[in-house]
Amino acid sequence: MKAILVDAFGGPETMTLREVADHRPGDNEVLVDIASTSVNPIDWKIVSGAMRSVIPVPLPFTPGVDAAGTVIAVGRNVTTFAPGDEVMGFIGILGSYATRAVVSAERLARKPGNVPLTEAGAIPAVTLTAWQALFEHGGLRAGQRILIHAAAGGVGSAAVQLAALAGAEVVGTASRANLDYVRSLGAATVIDYGAEDFARRVVEADMVLDLVGGYTQEQSWSVLKPGGILVSSVSQPDILRGRASGAEGIRFSTRPDGKQLSEIAALYESGKLRTQVDSVFPLNEASHAMTRSMTRHARGKVIIKVANQQ
Ligand SMILES: NC(=O)c1ccc[n+]([C@@H]2O[C@H](COP(=O)([O-])OP(=O)(O)OC[C@H]3O[C@@H](n4cnc5c(N)ncnc54)[C@H](OP(=O)(O)O)[C@@H]3O)[C@@H](O)[C@H]2O)c1
Repeated sequence: MKAILVDAFGGPETMTLREVADHRPGDNEVLVDIASTSVNPIDWKIVSGAMRSVIPVPLPFTPGVDAAGTVIAVGRNVTTFAPGDEVMGFIGILGSYATRAVVSAERLARKPGNVPLTEAGAIPAVTLTAWQALFEHGGLRAGQRILIHAAAGGVGSAAVQLAALAGAEVVGTASRANLDYVRSLGAATVIDYGAEDFARRVVEADMVLDLVGGYTQEQSWSVLKPGGILVSSVSQPDILRGRASGAEGIRFSTRPDGKQLSEIAALYESGKLRTQVDSVFPLNEASHAMTRSMTRHARGKVIIKVANQQ
């Protein structure tokens, strides 16, 4: 098998595609022939070394958290999948920029039938992040108002669709070029963050989903109603600021969850959820894929197509 390897922390150029020893699945694991993966910002944060104190990884390592592909072998305790099944999963913090990966069976779900394998690798991490943020951490319900920052990105695109499907009133922030796109995902109101101050436009929000951090997060307290909640995937909100506004703030980390991903797959199958593909790169150009994600202006997902790289 082949895998992208990072020998020293640094930029995307530190990644090389090399031949590595084949993996074998443990008792509760599945060996997947990977067809596609995608770039998530956590990948380049880990490659750069910026996450070393929080997520220590031994060098050399293979980046990548998302995978879609075909099962080629299963461990002896695995009854849920069999060779030939097409699956997808948020596989863990490393390992999917490769032609094969060993994955815990409980992190996998069947790939939606109407999504090609070469795109399904863009689904798991961002949709699970959006789902957990909205419903587990934010408790979002029909009729509530939610402000979603970075609504045109990977997590944001999923969050806008899921929140609108749940019957919430969605306000999304994006650059001017992405306003129509965010509207097409189900946002009732879109705000060009480069031209308008969202804090002057949004009032009485029940929830803010912060996918940006910094100044954007700080300004978000003022749009929340008392009892509202600021949920961030980026940094811990200032609890004292929250208390002063009568609102709550939390930062969360996404959890791999095959069952939840199966529910998400059903939404794809019924045509209620879709993935916007920003760009597709072959595995041997993973560094270009990462560079594209690092612009922070991808619309939807940057995919790494692995199939045919064996
Ligand atoms: N804690 C966790 O477990 C977890 C899980 C997933 C993601 N995350 C984090 O969540 C963040 C978002 O992830 P992602 O995958 O959605 O990233 P992404 O796809 O790279 O986000 C790119 C999007 O951000 C938008 N954007 C950039 N600056 C903005 C601003 N100031 N205001 C509004 N939109 C802005 C861009 O829209 P325009 O081009 O229109 O500007 C672009 O569409 C990342 O920092 C990631 O590391 C954390």
